[in-house]
Amino acid sequence: MSGAGIPDFFYREAQRLGYVARSAFKLLQLQEKFKLIKPGSSVLDLGCAPGAWLQVACQSLGPPKNGGVVVGIDLKKVKVPSTHCDARVQTVCGDVMNLSKDHIRSHSPKKGFSVILSDMCPLVSGIKTKDAALSAELGMRALDLAVGSAVLAQDAETKEENDEPSVPKDDNGILLPGGNLVIKLLESEDMREFNQICKPLFKKASWLRPKATRSTSREIYLICQGLVP
Ligand SMILES: C[S@@+](CC[C@H](N)C(=O)[O-])C[C@H]1O[C@@H](n2cnc3c(N)ncnc32)[C@H](O)[C@@H]1O
Repeated sequence: MSGAGIPDFFYREAQRLGYVARSAFKLLQLQEKFKLIKPGSSVLDLGCAPGAWLQVACQSLGPPKNGGVVVGIDLKKVKVPSTHCDARVQTVCGDVMNLSKDHIRSHSPKKGFSVILSDMCPLVSGIKTKDAALSAELGMRALDLAVGSAVLAQDAETKEENDEPSVPKDDNGILLPGGNLVIKLLESEDMREFNQICKPLFKKASWLRPKATRSTSREIYLICQGLVP
């Protein structure tokens, strides 16, 4: 639906094409522009409910003979959609903030992922600064999972002085060398920090606000390509 509750173009297209949500068109645009997922990729989809990105990710793997895997994680239990998905897609119910890297890694035959997508978003309160801070926290967790706490700790800005770490300190990231990472954020000052951290870690980092993003939303995606070994 559109913000006004009237079915919009992307909502109708999603229904017509068998996607479980209009958000499918955000990943379709990212995929068309950046070619993030390749045949045989191992994809981790953080915040996967209701499953539209699982569908697009699986389609992007090509036919089953190409191999590959899509692992989705969400706080909500997600049934793998029956359209556009096949046996390569699996879902895990859990809180990304608490699951250990080893646990997530164990779901990939390669013991790591070539693509990590984070479309996670907090329950929006309407208080701009609060929502942006929560979104940045989820984004930072996605980055930590991808590149590892050791790499992030090198950036003094990311260290919180007195806070106990809320996640286990397993240091190696689960994004394979050369891999791609997508992080959704709500526009705020934090974007600059993400930029500064990601630019040296990846060959390329760019921002995109997909066409399917509602005009009322402040969401924006950071696309990091080619993790430098
Ligand atoms: C915008 S939706 C994702 C839509 C999905 N990409 C799709 O296309 O179907 C954001 C999701 O992030 C999930 N989420 C938020 N915080 C999370 C966390 N800490 N761990 C796991 N999932 C989380 C929410 O439950 C919600 O389902």
